[in-house]
Amino acid sequence: MNTNQINSANENDSPLHNLEEWEADVINRYPDPSVINKDKKEEDFRDYEKTEKDGVKEFYRLNHKYQTFDFVMQKKLDYLKFDKKEMPIWSAFDFLNELVDDSDPDTDLDQMQHLVQTSEAIRNDGHPDWMVLVGLIHDMGKVLCLFGEPQWAVVGDTFPVGCAYSDKIVYPEFFKENPDYNNKIYQAKLGVYTENCGLDKVHMSWGHDEYVYHMMKDYIPEPGLYMLRYHSFYAQHRENAYTHLMNEKDHEMFKWVALFNPYDLYSKNPNQKSWEELKPYYQELVAKYLPLSLKF
Ligand SMILES: [Fe+2]
Ligand SMILES: [Fe+2]
Repeated sequence: MNTNQINSANENDSPLHNLEEWEADVINRYPDPSVINKDKKEEDFRDYEKTEKDGVKEFYRLNHKYQTFDFVMQKKLDYLKFDKKEMPIWSAFDFLNELVDDSDPDTDLDQMQHLVQTSEAIRNDGHPDWMVLVGLIHDMGKVLCLFGEPQWAVVGDTFPVGCAYSDKIVYPEFFKENPDYNNKIYQAKLGVYTENCGLDKVHMSWGHDEYVYHMMKDYIPEPGLYMLRYHSFYAQHRENAYTHLMNEKDHEMFKWVALFNPYDLYSKNPNQKSWEELKPYYQELVAKYLPLSLKF
């Protein structure tokens, strides 16, 4: 058991009913501009506000409290050895689908459906095939939950650690509970980094994004790797709060991250083709880029 687990042992590590509650909150914060004031009725959000908001807030409190610089370093040491499991990607998807919470009547989408809706929307818009693949695998890092990681170490908006927290991060007031908040070096604007050093040198809060990036970094073209690694970094790709850490290449690559984000958030399609129909295309696509079996 690591220090953070000990520290949080007396808190409920699972304030969300399921991981989608975090994503519902993101959509609430960043609504689809194409449906604003059109299809959205107030009752659509009523349930969310009543039943989910407290859980989501508590989730962010834990995330902001426990995602310290040391925690991130420790998780990188542990998980980036990729010595937990080895399986074909298809088994990983089955594994991921174990995350569905059957007791929640509002969740009609399992993880796989979200991935296929995202990838199919990208494919329908004629983007390169590696971007379609990114759509299919972008949330695969959520298997961290099945390795026993708490929700706050798997999902949530990501942010740099080891430097000042931006007030553009959701619920910034909760960072006061983070031990790094009282560390003068970590709370300087640049912290342990240098101006425009490039995000590759910056440690992000630990979660499914960083994990899947490392899993895929030998196989996917660079713009796709940026999409994987930074898709939950809303403080930058939506709020531009960390440009002082970015170099020119990051700015170029974040155009791809911005292109990817609406597919992740808004590609819910009620008329999605069945997985059986789609599978041959995806089997070929996976075989083109990925090895037969992946290390976790
Ligand atoms: Fe994600
Ligand atoms: Fe996603």
